[in-house]
Amino acid sequence: MVAKLLDGKAAAAAWEAELSAKLRGLPSPPKLVLVRVGDDPASGIYVKKKIEMCAKIGITSELVHLPENTSEASLLSRIASLNADKSVNGILVQVPLPKQIDALNVQKAIHPFKDVDGFGPKSMGYLLMGRPRFVAATPAGIMRLLQHYSLSPAGRHCVVVGRSNIVGKPLAVLLLQDDATVTIAHSKTKDLAAITKQADFLFVAAGKANLITKAMVKKGAVVVDVGMNKNRMGKSCGDVDFKPVSSVASFITPVPGGVGPMTIMSLMANTIKAREFQNQKE
Ligand code: GUN
Repeated sequence: MVAKLLDGKAAAAAWEAELSAKLRGLPSPPKLVLVRVGDDPASGIYVKKKIEMCAKIGITSELVHLPENTSEASLLSRIASLNADKSVNGILVQVPLPKQIDALNVQKAIHPFKDVDGFGPKSMGYLLMGRPRFVAATPAGIMRLLQHYSLSPAGRHCVVVGRSNIVGKPLAVLLLQDDATVTIAHSKTKDLAAITKQADFLFVAAGKANLITKAMVKKGAVVVDVGMNKNRMGKSCGDVDFKPVSSVASFITPVPGGVGPMTIMSLMANTIKAREFQNQKE
C-alpha cells in the first residue's frame, strides 16, 4: 500500500477561500493582536507566518513584541488593556513564555471572547463539555483536514501520542466528540508500539523525530504527524518516519505541508468567530 497524502496546503487553500468570502461580507476587518515575549527563534517564525496570513486574507493584525525580561504583572496589565480595547477582537500570546511568567495566569487573563488560541480555562472547559467555543488551532485544523478528505473517526480507534494542553488533550476531546474510541499515549506509556499498532487513526504530537516507525503502524491506518523537528541534515521533519510508514498507511500528512497550514487557517477562523462574539454577554 502506498499512502495518499493529506495535503494541508490544498485543504487550507479551500478553507482560505471560504474565510475570505466571509471576511468580504463584514463591514470592517476583524483585528488580531499577537503578543510575543522574548526572542525564541521558532516563535518568531510562527508569529511572522500568522501575521502574513492575516495580511493575505484581510484580517488586521498588530504585533506587540516585549523584551525577554518582561514581568508577569506588566504582561497582565497589557492584556487588560487589550481586553478593554473594543477595536481588538482576538488576543494571542505566543508560547513558550520566559520562565518568570506563568502561562496559565496569562491564558486565564485573556477575555474568553478574545481567546482565539482556545488555551484559556473557559475555552478548554466548554470544549470538554462538548460545546466548543474557541478550539486550539492545531487540533481544530487536524479535524478540518480529516473532514476535507471525508475521513470520519466515528467508531474508529484513534490513538493520540502526546498529552499537551495545546494539541494532545484537546485533540483527544474533539475525536471523542466525533464518536471515536480514543487512547492517549505519552512519554511514560509502556510499550508504545503495542498501542500505536492498534490505531485506525494515529495522531503523533510528541516532538521527537522518527518516533513512529513502520513496525508501529497498522496496515491501512490514517497517520497525522504534528511534529516539527529538524533532522541531522537540518531538514524539517515530523515525528513519523515518513517514507517507510507511507508504505503501510492509507493516508499520511507530509511535514511540512500537512498540519501546519491548517493550524494557521484555524487561527484565522477563530479570529472571525471572535468578531462574531463581540458585543455578546458572557
Ligand atoms: N506555540 C506553539 N503553537 C502555538 C499556538 O498555536 N499558539 C500560541 N499562542 N503559541 C504557540
